[in-house]
Amino acid sequence: MNTRSFGRLGWQVSEIGYGMWGMAGWTGSEDAESLASLQRAIELGCNFFDTAWAYGEGHSERLLGEIFSRNRDVPLYAATKIPPKNRQWPARPEFSLDDCYPPGHINEFVDRSLSSTGLPALDLIQLHTWNDGWLDDDRLTPALDNLRRSGKVRAVGISLNRWQPWNGVRAVRAGLVDSVQVVYNIFDQNPEDELFPACREANVAVIARVPLDEGSLTGTLTAESSWPSGDWRSQYFSPENLKVTLDRVEALRPLAPPNSSLADLALRFILSNPDVATVIPGMRKLRHVESNFAAGSAGLLDARLLTALRSHRWDRGLPAPYYPASQVR
Ligand SMILES: NC(=O)c1ccc[n+]([C@@H]2O[C@H](COP(=O)([O-])OP(=O)(O)OC[C@H]3O[C@@H](n4cnc5c(N)ncnc54)[C@H](OP(=O)(O)O)[C@@H]3O)[C@@H](O)[C@H]2O)c1
Repeated sequence: MNTRSFGRLGWQVSEIGYGMWGMAGWTGSEDAESLASLQRAIELGCNFFDTAWAYGEGHSERLLGEIFSRNRDVPLYAATKIPPKNRQWPARPEFSLDDCYPPGHINEFVDRSLSSTGLPALDLIQLHTWNDGWLDDDRLTPALDNLRRSGKVRAVGISLNRWQPWNGVRAVRAGLVDSVQVVYNIFDQNPEDELFPACREANVAVIARVPLDEGSLTGTLTAESSWPSGDWRSQYFSPENLKVTLDRVEALRPLAPPNSSLADLALRFILSNPDVATVIPGMRKLRHVESNFAAGSAGLLDARLLTALRSHRWDRGLPAPYYPASQVR
């Protein structure tokens, strides 16, 4: 497993990390299967794990704590997230810091995440939603600095709202955060416009999330794919969006190199960008862990293929759907 430097912190993180949402929020998850997949990932060299308190109200964090305790002798990085106080994803422009992250709430949820994971300290704590306007609230910077000084967290990051990579550039330039988590994949290439150059300049680590567009870029969805109503994918892949998405996925298929799956292509596209510190596919199945880490070993894509993939950029021009806590994203 190749490692990359995690921004100004200099941590050597595996270029493929682990997204832990699905295992605590999507239908069809089983803890035993998830733990076996996490263990295999560690054996294959994965050392960066992304979770959130909101993923099953601490359930995913407890799985992280369990797998870390089984691997005490392996250096691993734990990244988690504080939910917004009003439990609304993403942050609407009118939401204030008081609505989402008043300092007392930040401190309370760091303690809750420490308790769920059972870890003495968290490597990275991220705000689970973000508005650059919150930089104007004088309480935020001291609150985050106090956290770093408390010894409870080693670093602080933000997780940007879906399809709003521009809404975080100010935070990066202001030096507020050590990392930024953003949706980046073959369709959603817009973080390259402003966010990545800002992160490069400030040496802020980029965590590329949703690398497989919630599953569409694996090429395994069909027009008949459906999910129970409580599973948020039933909203994300609404019938209209599913159709448009599938047409775009079909157009990509001919570009996958021989003996390579669309999921491999999707991950290698992201890894080919040196601005990314780590990409965090969600994986519950062991076979997905094994094939995704093998894709990582296959190397970067050549310039011609990257140029061809550029034309598959999809600027959705849509507001991301809003979700209450029951369908946290
Ligand atoms: N607001 C936020 O901060 C936020 C929002 C979304 C996501 N995230 C983070 O980003 C991570 C990744 O995003 P995501 O999990 O939502 O979506 P994703 O990584 O784009 O897609 C996950 C889906 O792809 C499937 N999959 C993975 N590898 C595959 C392969 N090789 N072949 C076929 N299918 C494969 C998974 O199946 P199985 O699970 O069945 O193995 C799962 O259904 C999350 O887990 C979470 O840590 C953060």
